[in-house]
Amino acid sequence: MNQWMEIAILSTLKDGAYQRFEFENIDILVFREGNHLFAIEDECTHDGAELCGGLYMNHEIECPRHGAKFCVKTGQALSAPAYGSVNTFPIRVTHDGKVEIELGE
Ligand code: FES
Repeated sequence: MNQWMEIAILSTLKDGAYQRFEFENIDILVFREGNHLFAIEDECTHDGAELCGGLYMNHEIECPRHGAKFCVKTGQALSAPAYGSVNTFPIRVTHDGKVEIELGE
């Protein structure tokens, strides 16, 4: 069964930027665009590099190692040398401003 887990407080996430969290042994990047949040696993599908530290613009993050780009909304690889999608996680904000992600068991 999947569970919603608290990962952050919305007011601590910078708008137009991303932040890395380690949660349940998974490294997760959370992106904030106004009231929209996106969460992806911090692992490039080309050669396993961390995406954290990569350039983020227009809902795309660039892998710092070889430059592959990924859509942070869908996880889809947008440019070589990566072809596989990164994992994404459902994410939501509760009425009292807590950010939660849904993780599988
Ligand atoms: S490890 Fe990310 S593009 Fe090669």
